[in-house]
Parts: sequence; structure tokens; C-alpha cells
Amino acid sequence: MFFTSSMEADRKIFDADIEVDKAHVVMLKEQDIINAADCSAILSGLDKIKKDGISALDTSYEDVHIALEARLIEIVGEDTGGRMHSARSRNDEVATCIRIALREELLNLMDEVHDLVSTLIELAAKHHETIMPGYTHTQHAQPTTLAHHLLAHSNAFLRDLERLKRAYERTNQSPLGAAAFASTGFQINRKRTVELLGFDSIIENSMDAVSTRDFMIESISSFANLMTDLSRLAEELILWSSSEFGFIELDDSYSSTSSIMPQKKNPDIAELMRAKTGTIHGALVSVLTICKALPYSYNRDLQEATPHLWRACDTARSCARMAEGMVRTMKTDKENMRNASGKGFMCATELADTIVRNTGIPFRTAHHIVGSIAKSGKIPTISVLDDLSMDIIHKKLSENGLSEKAIVEALDPLGNIKRRRVPGGPAPKETKRQIKVIRKELLIAGNDVGLFRKKINAASVKLDKVCKHD
Ligand code: ARG
Repeated sequence: MFFTSSMEADRKIFDADIEVDKAHVVMLKEQDIINAADCSAILSGLDKIKKDGISALDTSYEDVHIALEARLIEIVGEDTGGRMHSARSRNDEVATCIRIALREELLNLMDEVHDLVSTLIELAAKHHETIMPGYTHTQHAQPTTLAHHLLAHSNAFLRDLERLKRAYERTNQSPLGAAAFASTGFQINRKRTVELLGFDSIIENSMDAVSTRDFMIESISSFANLMTDLSRLAEELILWSSSEFGFIELDDSYSSTSSIMPQKKNPDIAELMRAKTGTIHGALVSVLTICKALPYSYNRDLQEATPHLWRACDTARSCARMAEGMVRTMKTDKENMRNASGKGFMCATELADTIVRNTGIPFRTAHHIVGSIAKSGKIPTISVLDDLSMDIIHKKLSENGLSEKAIVEALDPLGNIKRRRVPGGPAPKETKRQIKVIRKELLIAGNDVGLFRKKINAASVKLDKVCKHD
């Protein structure tokens, strides 16, 4: 490929380009800009080009648009084929094609993220009482459940799904008819091509329409958020599958072995997922930088942005799919999770809270007393607590409402968790409710994707029908 060529990246927009050509030509005929005979000859030429595929095009042209038009002229002659590009420029054409191909990518990615969230919540549903350590600073902090932890990830991915939807809505608008940037003196009908191509609306200002790639930036930025979330999941799967944690075992199909150490099972897929985040973040910075300070309207710089978009689409989609598969097939080790929860005095917060609730002393003072126990490494019995409270506040907690029973309850991890039933907390009752909410949201999100697809399909049926009629 030569320096000015975009042929390689244009593979992604070959099908879209033919759709755009068809809708444009039908509209030109309806507006009496070209005649019916030329219209139908062009349409059948386009069908043949579609059937032959992009590999039949002459790649010595600088892009798919020119190569396709040249091929059309070869098939139907210049007097007919040379009319297709009336009232249009490659500037509005390429922007329209990218949007059509991208909306498909967004819908496919939405499906993957949807699947990932449903797999996460199905697994969570089996682990409402699976106790595990919760961490801050990667240090044992407070006990939680695997359900609560998986639901944290699910919520993050749900927001990613929502962002993809927003990106979709802004992508699905038509720049077609903007021509080079100043629109055209032909009496075209922009609304008709919107309808035939399944867009939601036109992009009003014709200079804006060809100049902007903000829809690309917004899409890649939603991928970047998604990848950051995926990389955090990947990182935890890597940690949890290490022998230090031993919380999960990844399926063989998502692991590799070492070429030298026969005993090893490496979490390569999760590691690659973690690394591919860099590919997407890089794509985002590339496109932002390419678009930054570009004078209006179209500049060839914009061509250089598109390959980053396609790379980002492919990467995000494969990573979301891998994540779903890894979560679906991994084994969990409840025993190891429970054992790890016994370490690190993780019920210390609950003990301090219990002291506050039973004795009425301020939380900071209770924190101080429990902190002293943690430092001493002693087992927190009522007499140990009394000794410390005598030192610190000169009174015994046992004489102020604290019982041995309350202490034992505070130190029970499951009891701890069950008490945390405020909205969003890890109590099984609460995680069960959270799953119900997420299921509902998934249903709505799935419906939205279905409606988007329905609209596109209906437009494509309509376009096919008018093309056949011609
Ligand atoms: N291949 C070009 C791109 O991707 C198409 C538009 C070319 N327009 C032009 N005025 N040279 O941006």
C-alpha cells in the first residue's frame, strides 16, 4: 500500500459504501437528478461489484470510493456510471460509511458486554453466602461475598453498556448530502437517504458533517472505559488464580502452559486482555491528537484516524468475549476464600461499630481501642477489651453495655455480612435484590439493541425493495 492509500482500512466500509451508493442513487433518481435507466444500470453494476467482493477492486486506487466508482464505470460505462457521484463528495461519503460500519460494531460490542454482565450475575447468584476477603490497598479490609464482588464488576460493565448506547445514538446520524462541505446546488433529499440507510437524523450543518470525528472519539472513549474495567477484572482473575490466593482456577482453554516449567498454568488470556487495554487507550489518544487543531472542514488527516477506530473495535470486542468465557468457565474455591477471610482481623470495623452501638462511646474512641488490640495481636475477649478501655478511657466496656456475646457476633464474618443490608451492601438479601435490578436493566438494554437492529434491518429491506423496483 502506498502512502496516501486507505485501501486496507477501507475493507471495513466496503459493504457500507455500496449501501450508501445505492441509497444516494435512488434518491438522485427520485429527485430527477438522474434518469431511471441510469439509476437501474448503476444499481445492477453495484450488485455485481458487491458479489465480486472488495478483492476484485483495483487496489492501485487510493481508496475504496474511487476504486469502486472506477469499477462501476468499467461495467456500465462513464456516461452512466459517471453520474453516481453527482451531488456528493468523498468527504460526506466516507463519513457516512464509517458511521454505518461503526454502528454495527457498536451493536455487536453491546451484545458482548450484555453477555458478560449476564454471566457475571448468574455466577453471583450462586455465591450470595460465599465469604471472601474484601480488599483496600490489596490488604485484607472487611469480609464480603463473591456475589457482592462480582456485582461490583457487573455494575461497572452496565455503565459501559449505557455509554456504548449513547455513542451509538450520536453515531447513527447522517452526514450524507453535505458533499465536500458546502452541500450542493442539486435539489437532493437528505431525509430520504436517512430513511433508506436507517439513520435517526441528518447532521444539520454540512461543514460540521464532514469535519467531525467526535462520534469516533466518543465511541473509542467508551471502549477505553470498558477496557479499563475489563483490565481490572483481568487483574483480579490473575491474582485470584495465583497460588497465593487460590480463589479460582481458570479453565484450560483460557490458560497456557510454560515451555520450560511443566507444572505451570498461566493466565495468558487475562494478561493479554490487561495489555490490550493499552491498544485502545493508544487509539483514543491517536484520534484525539489527529483531530486536535484541525482547521475546518475536511483534511486528509482524518483518513489516518480511521484505522485506529477499527483496531479499537476489534480489540474491545474480542476482549469482552474472552472475559465472558473466562468467567463462565472458571472454577471457584469457596474453601480457600473462606479460609482467607479468617486472616487479617477483618471484622475489626464491625467490632468497633458494635462497641459504639452497645456502649455509646464515640466511633473514633472505639477505633482507637480496637486498633490497640490489632497491634497487640491479642484475641479480642471482653476482658482484653476492658483492660484496654481502662487504659484509654478509664472505664470498662463491660460495665457500659458490651457483652461477650456481642463480641463473638461481631467477629463472625457471615454475621458481619448479613448485618450490612443497606442498599448496595453485601448482605445476601441485598445482593439478591441487586441481581433482580441488574436483570431488569439487562432486559431493557437488550431491548434497545433489538430496536436499533430492527430499524437498520427495516431500512435495508426498504432499500432493497426500492432498488429491485428500479
Ligand atoms: N479515503 C479518504 C478518507 O478516509 C476518503 C475521503 C477523501 N477525500 C478527499 N478530499 N481526498 O478520509
